[in-house]
Amino acid sequence: MRILITGGAGFIGSCLVRTLVDRGRDDVVVLDALTYAGNLENLAGLEASGRFDFVHGSIRDEVAVANAIDGCDAVVNVAAETHVDRSIDEPGVFLDTNVQGPRVLMDAVRARRVRFVQVSTDEVYGDIEDREPATEDSPLAPSSPYAASKAAADLLVAAYCRTYGLEAVVTRCGNNYGPRQFPEKLIPLFITNALDDRELPLYGDGLNVRDWIHVEDHCAGIIAALERGRAGWVYNISAGCTLTNRDVCRRLLDLLGKPEGLVRRVADRPGHDRRYALDAGRIRTELGWQPRIPFAEGLAATVDWYRVEREWWERVKTGEYRTFYARLYGDRLKTDLASAPKRGER
Ligand code: NAD
Ligand code: TYD
Repeated sequence: MRILITGGAGFIGSCLVRTLVDRGRDDVVVLDALTYAGNLENLAGLEASGRFDFVHGSIRDEVAVANAIDGCDAVVNVAAETHVDRSIDEPGVFLDTNVQGPRVLMDAVRARRVRFVQVSTDEVYGDIEDREPATEDSPLAPSSPYAASKAAADLLVAAYCRTYGLEAVVTRCGNNYGPRQFPEKLIPLFITNALDDRELPLYGDGLNVRDWIHVEDHCAGIIAALERGRAGWVYNISAGCTLTNRDVCRRLLDLLGKPEGLVRRVADRPGHDRRYALDAGRIRTELGWQPRIPFAEGLAATVDWYRVEREWWERVKTGEYRTFYARLYGDRLKTDLASAPKRGER
């Protein structure tokens, strides 16, 4: 198969691309706008495989999408604006990328009748408080502009399946961790701050619960849905590892050998969901997927990765990786090099 992966220069996208290229069965094309979160270093070395192409462009751009999709048998949409805090500051770009982007992709897909996977999130179910883990049939009740934009895209996929007979599936996963995650999200922000003996800003009382999964397990779930998922269906992906932010923080400090005193309680995020938890029974029984990486093992490996790859995250935190691209790719990327990360330094 020739598979178009959008957002392949980001955290989850680059893991998915690496997994598929390493498997050696498929050709992969990446379409990525290289926003502050996209990083070509994440894809370094893949050109040598002869199975990988990169197209610089936005999923909102019909021409770029038409070029990238040419000759592909399937599209996996991983591209998105992904950080809840940024969506609170600037909702507009989330609607443009996360709703309009999938619309453009699906129009291209339906004209060519290729298979489509929309990578979504457990945040579409909203705060489940003390209720049972969300199943695929639980109501959508997003709390943040980010979650609302992802829920809107999920509904659009359902509408395209019914109206146009699109062959599409949606996957909804919990919080990912692993190598190459942009250090604005909880785990990489706390690891990189702690490595520099800087404070760890814990929101509110730190008792919010997230459903954690290693990025490689998530990608295996996306591939299962791509290859074997039933058209029109949604698949939750979860390793069943729910932890409070305080627990995650304590484990990180233990692994890093850093003191609890680094933790600073800060004002809570507006609209902060208290608890996420997913029921992943469908993907386990129907598609035979199961997670392989226990949280303790995956977290220790992730901490080791950030210890070793200091140059990667220092470049990312300072925005210096943009100049790094400019040197590598010259004028091709000039238009996207202007906007520096806003909160990566926090
Ligand atoms: P990320 O922020 O690390 O990467 C996003 C990628 O998309 C970047 O490479 C960026 O350049 C690219 N991109 C952004 N706008 C684009 C556009 N208009 N056109 C083309 N490319 C564009 O994100 P991530 O954490 O890897 O998340 C990937 C997907 O997985 C998202 O759809 C997200 O909603 C979903 N998801 C993430 C998590 C998580 O914990 N990170 C959990 C569940 C689902
Ligand atoms: P985050 O990594 O932003 O993912 P999401 O909001 O998509 O779940 O946050 C994970 C949890 O960690 C969430 O409950 C908010 C909390 N958090 C902090 O306490 N401090 C921080 O600096 C960040 C980024 C998140």
